[in-house]
Amino acid sequence: MGDVLRGRTVVVIGGTSGIGLAVARAAIEAGARVVVGSSQAANVEAAVAGLGAAASGHAVDVGDEAAVAAFFASVGPFDHLAFTAGDWGGAGRGPLKSVDLAGAGAMFKVRFWGAIYASKHARAAIVPGGSITLTTGMIAHRPTKGSALPTAMAGAIEHLTQGLAVELAPVRVNCVCPGLIRTEVWNSIPAEGREERFTQMTKRQLIPRIGEAQEAAQAYLYLMRGGYTTGQVLQVDGGTGFG
Ligand SMILES: NC(=O)c1ccc[n+]([C@@H]2O[C@H](COP(=O)([O-])OP(=O)(O)OC[C@H]3O[C@@H](n4cnc5c(N)ncnc54)[C@H](OP(=O)(O)O)[C@@H]3O)[C@@H](O)[C@H]2O)c1
Repeated sequence: MGDVLRGRTVVVIGGTSGIGLAVARAAIEAGARVVVGSSQAANVEAAVAGLGAAASGHAVDVGDEAAVAAFFASVGPFDHLAFTAGDWGGAGRGPLKSVDLAGAGAMFKVRFWGAIYASKHARAAIVPGGSITLTTGMIAHRPTKGSALPTAMAGAIEHLTQGLAVELAPVRVNCVCPGLIRTEVWNSIPAEGREERFTQMTKRQLIPRIGEAQEAAQAYLYLMRGGYTTGQVLQVDGGTGFG
């Protein structure tokens, strides 16, 4: 039996970097056509060039609902959406007594509201048997000091997944919850000492190492293929919950 993704169209918003780019690569390896989207046109162009003939892409800022609607209008009917867009930095981190609460709402803009805009406007274009896979993070389950707002944001995406699974059925809606995954994001740590930092951060895990983007990508592909799975959160975290 051939791969159920063969000949399908997979849209990856956030597919120009890190986990999303690995999802795009894995979907193409499985025989799918891929459409990638992210906010910077140059990133889209570079990703499409690297992914080859089975890929196309359009720039889209998921913080802008009208832009998301236009993106899906240009994509047309498709099978599976993976949403991995995420931005970093900004307000909302740090001790609650000093956190910039006025600015903290921006933390929800791409990962939470972007996921809602994308799900809303993707729904009508997804063909029968299709799916949406969102992205949260292990901070939802393992809060640290100074992370109350990121914890709440990540948890909100998990509850959003359950709500959307009911709301958008029979389209399936699931969510991947990555632990520490090696992507461009961690280049913010100086190269010298980065691997030691990863070792430190993962030493209590059952699998005590950083995960690779292609390992996280397999979870998205599983959820696309899994025609009887919806409303679920799949953790890809090397077993952080047991240390
Ligand atoms: N890596 C980890 O260890 C880890 C751990 C837990 C959770 N996660 C979650 O996994 C997701 C992906 O992370 P990653 O490490 O793969 O990050 P990444 O390499 O930085 O990729 C993020 C992607 O999002 C796109 N993006 C950012 N802002 C956007 C916007 N406004 N509209 C559309 N696209 C936008 C970026 O492209 P442009 O710059 O072109 O917009 C890029 O393609 C994030 O939600 C992150 O929170 C990652």
